[in-house]
Amino acid sequence: MLTATVAEKLPIGRGDERRLTQVLLNLAGNAVKFTETGAIDILADAVDGHFEITVRDTGPGIASKDQALIFEEFQQVDSSSTKQKGGTGLGLAISKRIVEMHGGTIEVESVLGSGSAFRLKIPMRVEESAEAA
Ligand SMILES: Nc1ncnc2c1ncn2[C@@H]1O[C@H](COP(=O)(O)OP(=O)(O)O)[C@@H](O)[C@H]1O
Ligand SMILES: [Mg+2]
Repeated sequence: MLTATVAEKLPIGRGDERRLTQVLLNLAGNAVKFTETGAIDILADAVDGHFEITVRDTGPGIASKDQALIFEEFQQVDSSSTKQKGGTGLGLAISKRIVEMHGGTIEVESVLGSGSAFRLKIPMRVEESAEAA
């Protein structure tokens, strides 16, 4: 089950739409790839001048010792699930760069065995016309 919860009346931001879409697709793709049972939830909100987007899953989770590593190029967790599912280990490294180019942050919260939540915070740089509307 995949749900998306988008806050009402989100302001219109400025940014590289194509690259930010790649980031979201990568996070959602990972969630779908690694989650065998349960749910994936995508949440979008505007908080204190930035957009906050969370992709949460009930997949295998990521041990604390691996949580920084996975944002580095070519790094995959050395688990059977990662080995079975393939991939290049580049998605999160590229995502982190794109988010940081927008002045934002990406972080993961996870408990091994009970899922992961990847959270993006991206400063709004709201369009003036949208602000006035
Ligand atoms: N939602 C997730 N649940 C569990 N592990 C994850 C999740 N997302 C990423 N990982 C771990 O982080 C690694 C790096 O992810 P990524 O950079 O997207 O590379 P890839 O998907 O090509 O393996 C994955 O190989 C996996 O070990
Ligand atoms: Mg990936």
